[in-house]
Amino acid sequence: MKPILVVEDEAIMRESLRDWLTDGGYQVESAEQGDEALAAIEEQDFGLLILDLKLPGEDGLEVLRKAKERRPQLNGIIITAYPSVETAVEAMKEGVIDYLPKPIDLNELEKLVSKTLGPVQVEIRPKTVTLVIDDREVKAEQGTTILEAAHSAGIDIPTLCYHKKLAPYGACRLCTVEIVRGQQSQLVASCCYPVVDGLVVKTESEQVVKGRKMLLKLMWARAPGIEALRNYRIKYGITGVKTAEDYGISSASTTKFEIEPTFCILCGLCVRYCAEVKGRNAIGFIGRGTEREVVFLPEIARDECSKCEECFPLCPTGALPSHFALIKEGHPA
Ligand code: SF4
Ligand code: FES
Repeated sequence: MKPILVVEDEAIMRESLRDWLTDGGYQVESAEQGDEALAAIEEQDFGLLILDLKLPGEDGLEVLRKAKERRPQLNGIIITAYPSVETAVEAMKEGVIDYLPKPIDLNELEKLVSKTLGPVQVEIRPKTVTLVIDDREVKAEQGTTILEAAHSAGIDIPTLCYHKKLAPYGACRLCTVEIVRGQQSQLVASCCYPVVDGLVVKTESEQVVKGRKMLLKLMWARAPGIEALRNYRIKYGITGVKTAEDYGISSASTTKFEIEPTFCILCGLCVRYCAEVKGRNAIGFIGRGTEREVVFLPEIARDECSKCEECFPLCPTGALPSHFALIKEGHPA
């Protein structure tokens, strides 16, 4: 089987991907940037390139273009933390197998790699990996996430958008932890990041707690007084833990963050549950950035949702049932 070349400038991401694929039975080389990758391609016949879109110097697509001039049969997968329609279209024009936004869905990546290079012998895969979480050695099944490994070891990491029945989503970032490899550290969403042998994880480092407090303040402006947020605010010593009544629905300007409270923190639990578990898509997101919101599709929702309502208890803020009540009364979605 031909080897894989991972081209990624972020050291932790590069090493984690390389280790994960190696553990999966593939032969893997890695390069930090384009010229290094092209030199490796001159030397060796790779079966697949996995390229970060944003690289120092030439970007991933340019590197893939040059690599294909040398070896036209080469397959490429683009990964990116900055997905856009324009770059996705450009990537497809370059003939990539796929274009994956970060955090990468590892099940999806595994399927693509296996389809391109062929499956490896399952028996050569180690079944467990060992990592260190908050100074404790933790064993976890390969393919699980840091969050799942921590929870199975009884280590609590706060979450708002995680649900064990749903694919990792990485919306709330409250589960962010610090991972350390050698001299380098990085903040990652633990609900999306796979366990890797030898990884050191800090779930409550100074940087992690600072970020979590900032997120809680931002979400509080969107959904003041919500119990799930209030409990975390107490845990992290954020003062002024007021209730919704203390704020008033439209008085978010009393906080540092000028956001109109919508009582939806865009965790996506409702949208994803309806799509992934129920297969109905009666609810979805519209808009982008600060305009993003959850809407019911009235033509499906009026019939389906009253009979189901399974996503209502998942909503951490209670926004969803109230929103649905308006639909039933005939207000616009
Ligand atoms: S309505 Fe509730 S469950 Fe749905 S995205 Fe908003 S906060 Fe999350
Ligand atoms: S629980 Fe991980 S990003 Fe929300």
